[in-house]
Amino acid sequence: MAENHGMVGDVYFPAPEIIEQAHIPNYEKVHAEAMADLPGFWGRIAAENFEWYQPWEKVLDDHNAPFYKWFVGAKVNIIHNALDRHMRTSVRNKAALIFEGEPGDMRTYTYQQLNYEVCKFASVLRSLGVAKGDRVTIYMGRIPELMIAMLACAKIGAMHSVVYGGFSTEALLDRINDSQSEVLVTCDGAWLRGNIVPLKEIANAAVERADSIHSVVCVKRTGEDVEMVPDRDHWYHDLMALPIADPHSATEVMDAEDPLFILYTSGTTGKPKAILHTHGGYMVGTATTLKWVFDMKPEDVWWCAADPGWITGHSYIVYSPLILGATSFMYEGAPTHPNPDRWWSMIAQYGITILYTAPTAIRGLMRFGENWPNLHDLSSLRLLGSVGEPINPAAWSWYYRVIGKERCPIMDTWWQTETGNFMITPLPSVPLKPGSGTRGFPGVDIDVVDEEGEPVGVNEEGYLVIKRPWPAMLRTIFGDPDRYVRQYWSRYEEQGWYLPGDSAKKDEDGYIWIIGRIDDVIKVSGYRLGTAEVESALVSHAAVAEAAVIGIPDQLRGNIIKAFCILRDGFEPSDKLSAELRDHVGHEVGPIAKPTTVDFVDELPKTRSGKIMRRVLKAKVLGEELGDLSTLAN
Ligand code: WT7
Repeated sequence: MAENHGMVGDVYFPAPEIIEQAHIPNYEKVHAEAMADLPGFWGRIAAENFEWYQPWEKVLDDHNAPFYKWFVGAKVNIIHNALDRHMRTSVRNKAALIFEGEPGDMRTYTYQQLNYEVCKFASVLRSLGVAKGDRVTIYMGRIPELMIAMLACAKIGAMHSVVYGGFSTEALLDRINDSQSEVLVTCDGAWLRGNIVPLKEIANAAVERADSIHSVVCVKRTGEDVEMVPDRDHWYHDLMALPIADPHSATEVMDAEDPLFILYTSGTTGKPKAILHTHGGYMVGTATTLKWVFDMKPEDVWWCAADPGWITGHSYIVYSPLILGATSFMYEGAPTHPNPDRWWSMIAQYGITILYTAPTAIRGLMRFGENWPNLHDLSSLRLLGSVGEPINPAAWSWYYRVIGKERCPIMDTWWQTETGNFMITPLPSVPLKPGSGTRGFPGVDIDVVDEEGEPVGVNEEGYLVIKRPWPAMLRTIFGDPDRYVRQYWSRYEEQGWYLPGDSAKKDEDGYIWIIGRIDDVIKVSGYRLGTAEVESALVSHAAVAEAAVIGIPDQLRGNIIKAFCILRDGFEPSDKLSAELRDHVGHEVGPIAKPTTVDFVDELPKTRSGKIMRRVLKAKVLGEELGDLSTLAN
């Protein structure tokens, strides 16, 4: 079998040395153990790999399902495991974070140095009146202070609510209002493609209208002139130089089930929902999945190229690598600045061993051809990863051949903001089929079923369901527990299954193939957007009476957004108006939400009850069969 590795037909078999090196003994064995005794499995992992101030009374409490509780009665703080405990070992002197800014500046923080900054900023937050349970909104670029701010919140038991730096004023304002944050941490700007994203200016416009915010902390990143409002705004470096910035501040003792953070994500209807994660279960789930799936070793340099503003960054840049005592690399800017080999040159320079990114990024870099990566020595790479959307065959083989040199297996990880950690994923020892995330992580009870909940046949399309709870699962939607139940647990209420909202197939080997969303969520360049968000942005424009948007498959971005608008009386269709509407969406939601085209129509297909039938619009655009039109009113 030894020579039978690499691609054999359509299947990739990992090389013997990859299997031998891997931490995880054997998928079948561990998975079977976990399924036979789920609380026993997670309880053992939690006891052996983490420090708890006080142990739990019960691993899993399912009395009030779907409001599951994990490690009930335990006292812990994720920061104790991510930082505090490392101060007693040689990990203290290891690089926790290696950072490169877009202009080329570099910084490295050892665990000791990172802890020093986190302790100081934690006490700064306390002196601004932030206490356990309070919310802090963070709106920053991809710089170490973003991580420091998040960790400082966790340390004092405050919930961070990170708003991605690509979101606009309105989106930021909505999220501040919904979370009722009292403090905002931001920066003067962020470098992107050689330009400055004016984060402080956008933040000022939002905070002016946000009643809950009393203090703004601003990190100096670009040195641009920005407006600082007296009494409300403080420079980060000024606060950190004060005696109140205590490098020995204490870590708050939390219940395992106390909230760690909220993170907004798009859903089927209405405004984005605040997904809530907790200290105990999230800590256990994220660290265990990272350790097994990416086989994290002390000598690795891990690069998760996502933004910390998304769940990928929360789980796999900020928390789990630190818990494992790993070394992470972070890059501030665009992959193509100043040239399309920026990523490849950094992999060579820093000796990156594991790269975890999204299909959309791979496709974006693929466009520039093989010469750019071939300029650099990529031999340090050992494993690759993919996340965010199904990876198409062309992108998979380019990633495998040109970047991984046919040596590195690709871990295609399916998961969600809600799941907190990888759910469908290979381990390095598992044979791969390009485009499939293989099977559930050990202990993840996942299946593909029909409307009634019966398993579908081999290679038949159905709904993805998760049949049993897992430690890093979301606990609720902050401020809206009813919506939590309705959104995720009502479809298969009788069975008590979680509905992720994806359709999928299962092949003859039990490998799962994700097809796409079953709801009105559109994935654009891996970003999750709700049709409702884009449509309500469109109708907030004076010219638009009604709007519908759909996602259309796109080679580069996975999907693009197409908008259909009915104009109000007195407005005429024109290219100018179409451009204005696109910009309006960019302003209301953020540049990623801009429709690629805006069509003006007289009617939209609707059901008799008045719901827009987006599926009909989509079928028309794609020239497909219109399907069942019995509910169509017009
Ligand atoms: C949705 C969740 C979790 C990190 C990033 C996205 C899609 C995610 C994959 C994958 C196929 C994927 C699903 C899922 N998705 N990873 N490997 N293969 N589809 O988190 O923004 O909460 O989006 O992204 O549709 O439901 P998110």
